[in-house]
Amino acid sequence: MATMLASNGLDYGELVRDDRVNGRLYYDPAIFQDEIEKIWRREWLYVAHESEIPEPGDYVTRRMGLDPVIVARDEDGGVNLMLNRCTHRGNTVCQSERGNSHAFRCAYHGWTFNNRGELVGVPYAAGYDESFRKADFPLARAPRVGTYRGLIFASLSPDGPALEERLGRAGRLLDQFVDLSPEGELIVRSGVLKHSYRGNWKMALENSVDGYHPNILHHAAMVMMTRGKGDMEAIFGERSDARARDLGNGAAQLDLNAVNTRNGGRVVPPGWSREAYADYRAAMERRYGADEADRIIAQGPPHFCIFPNLIFILNQFRVIQPVSVDETVIHYYPTLLKGAPEEINQRRLSETYLIHGPAGRVAPDDFEAYERNQEGFSARVNEWLLLRRGLHREDREPNGAIAGHETDETTQRAIWRYYREAMTR
Ligand code: FES
Ligand SMILES: [Fe+2]
Repeated sequence: MATMLASNGLDYGELVRDDRVNGRLYYDPAIFQDEIEKIWRREWLYVAHESEIPEPGDYVTRRMGLDPVIVARDEDGGVNLMLNRCTHRGNTVCQSERGNSHAFRCAYHGWTFNNRGELVGVPYAAGYDESFRKADFPLARAPRVGTYRGLIFASLSPDGPALEERLGRAGRLLDQFVDLSPEGELIVRSGVLKHSYRGNWKMALENSVDGYHPNILHHAAMVMMTRGKGDMEAIFGERSDARARDLGNGAAQLDLNAVNTRNGGRVVPPGWSREAYADYRAAMERRYGADEADRIIAQGPPHFCIFPNLIFILNQFRVIQPVSVDETVIHYYPTLLKGAPEEINQRRLSETYLIHGPAGRVAPDDFEAYERNQEGFSARVNEWLLLRRGLHREDREPNGAIAGHETDETTQRAIWRYYREAMTR
């Protein structure tokens, strides 16, 4: 396909083909720099959750790609998303991961900014002439900020599609996840698990919706989680009727709704007490009515990713943080359901640690796979990575999404198709 060469002379149309991608995309530092500009400084990125900063003065610090930011709630309840870079000489003005403060005072020369980013204090101000106005030196702000069901997204680019348009079909899956709360709200205040790995950021995104690997890489975990009784081949295997779906805009899903419903609610048995379940079911019925409540509970949380940094699997979501071409940190956020019985929320919390913790049943396998992957790329023998699995058996669904068998690479192709678009834009 004809594409324009990027400023570094690379032709992404050549490196990303319909059925394969070039290994260089995972280890070339020039490509990583290009991704920072074209993806991480342009796309909508997930940044934080509203429930992390409920009170005036609450803030969290994050990174949007490599750019450090502060997300702060001001006295009027507004959410302010500011670059964490002093307008004097560039120090970060806040180093804590979270807290409550009405102002951020740069430690270097003491310039002080309120939680809307306005410069409110300059020590020894007489050193500046009358043309100096504090109003000219606020912290820079992310040009676009949007929220969806409590999730705060932002873009460092002033132009581009609106958040809802960009989320597209993935927005309905966010609804499916949040609607598991009897009050329609998530609480994301249970801390964060961080894993770093020596590998490229795209591996974690691709792996999150790779339905080919779970029953192989995670076989031991799958046997444990179904206590040897479940039919794993019917969940993550050739006999599964789950679907791999390209949702558009780089979002992709492993649709386990039918599998979960058949298995009585979840791939992972929730192990709730009868009483807790009855209370939860009653609360859900009050909000949705009996039939809809049963349907929502039975299909459980959706399994999907939103390009480039947000992944929903089971009860948590995770956020991808690129560090360099071969180093990445993943942040796992357990989620609680507002209005659900304590026991159910406790169970959700412990599941995150059991499955995704440092000694969890699943996550360590994936991190090992990423590092082996990155190491394998050091052998520059055949640069192509195959992504053709199931290309011959995909369908276009009535709503326009492309879907294939769960073990097919429809989801990886979804990510790469959008990647190519973003990198050649
Ligand atoms: S760098 Fe922040 S006050 Fe000087
Ligand atoms: Fe995995």
